[in-house]
Amino acid sequence: MDLFEPCYEWHDAELVKAAGVYPYFRVLSASEGPVVTVDGRPVVMLGSNNYLGLTHHPAVLRAAHDAIDRYGTGCTGSRFLNGNIELHESLERELAEFTGKEAALVFSSGFLANFGVLGLLGATEGCVLFSEAGNHASLIDGTRLSRAEVHVFDGPDDLAGQLSTQPEWRHALVVTDAVFSMTGKVVDLKRLVELRRKHHFRLYVDDAHGFGVLGRQGRGVTDALGVTPEVDLLFATFSKSLASLGGFVAGERPVIDYLRHKVRTVIFSAALPPPSAAAALAALRVMREDGSLFERLWENVHFFREGVEKLGYYTMGSTTPIVPLFVGSESLAFRLCRDALQMGVFATPAIFPAVPLGQALMRTSVIPAHTRAQLKKALEVFATLMDRYPVLRVDSTHLPTAEEMDFSYLFEQSA
Ligand SMILES: Cc1ncc(COP(=O)(O)O)c(C=O)c1O
Repeated sequence: MDLFEPCYEWHDAELVKAAGVYPYFRVLSASEGPVVTVDGRPVVMLGSNNYLGLTHHPAVLRAAHDAIDRYGTGCTGSRFLNGNIELHESLERELAEFTGKEAALVFSSGFLANFGVLGLLGATEGCVLFSEAGNHASLIDGTRLSRAEVHVFDGPDDLAGQLSTQPEWRHALVVTDAVFSMTGKVVDLKRLVELRRKHHFRLYVDDAHGFGVLGRQGRGVTDALGVTPEVDLLFATFSKSLASLGGFVAGERPVIDYLRHKVRTVIFSAALPPPSAAAALAALRVMREDGSLFERLWENVHFFREGVEKLGYYTMGSTTPIVPLFVGSESLAFRLCRDALQMGVFATPAIFPAVPLGQALMRTSVIPAHTRAQLKKALEVFATLMDRYPVLRVDSTHLPTAEEMDFSYLFEQSA
């Protein structure tokens, strides 16, 4: 078989485009943070991870410009050899201090951090990995790269059950998201930490969506729950609250030093570009200094989440700025995002494998810079969608399975 045959025969995207509901690779021609321009029209952005809205903060913009003036646009090599600049080192020092860890290591993207670190640590002889079922793709791919024995667990109770049936694992590493990126649900880290005390495993926590949002000055979920000292490696990305690109892991100094010299995604990949490093550092400083950001963020989150819940949407237990609207059917999720955009609101669909099959959702999130008028407008749009597709009003104690969804209803709508 020609290796490219699956590519030639793959028509899913074309079919979805032909149905007029293709939701991916939308082109933005301008962005102000809470509002972006799509097809020449301003729309309210509810589909970003810009949780503090710092992508357009004057201090962050200035830092990125200054870094370009001083270092140029790129590092043209890995940090290991020629691309290590003062900004990377300052960022690592401030992140270590901020998270209360001994040291931190900066990567060119969050994906590269998870992928590289788990790929390396998991390859340690005898390592057994326990990976939470809802983990982000970068964690899953890191566990695969390692070729370690991997056990998937579904919540702390399941992990406890699996650990109790196994002999003491000397090299077990438990890996979990702190906040699930699609549903906004926070993991019970306190319980995981109790299990760590009992079973002596190492704990790796990905706080991509909690960092900059929860905890003191945005120190994240581990801080909010008071468990940071018992998290062996703490990961977060710069591509969300820190308004940039890149990511870091923080932990004990000897571990970070080992990673610094061994992780292939550091050694064999070009360093985080100067403006990205500068933007992340400036965003971290703004986040530490400006408490009003959090006040405005949470006011907006509560207003919007309560608003959509009043309309009858099921928000899947989220307690974070991620406000998922349960849909169930994938095609309906596509249709809703298309309709919302036509009415001036940008939201994104989440379908399998980002969520379990039959649990498609429309993912929304709010930021401090959203005005009340923008959020009210969004609520009006979601009210219209609820009128148009009453199937969205589900009983959260009995979610419909994919088979139970009334698909004929959708065909009537499209006729
Ligand atoms: C939970 C989680 N971990 C890791 C990543 C990867 O981060 P980055 O975007 O910096 O590559 C993401 C981003 O989508 C994420 O949501």
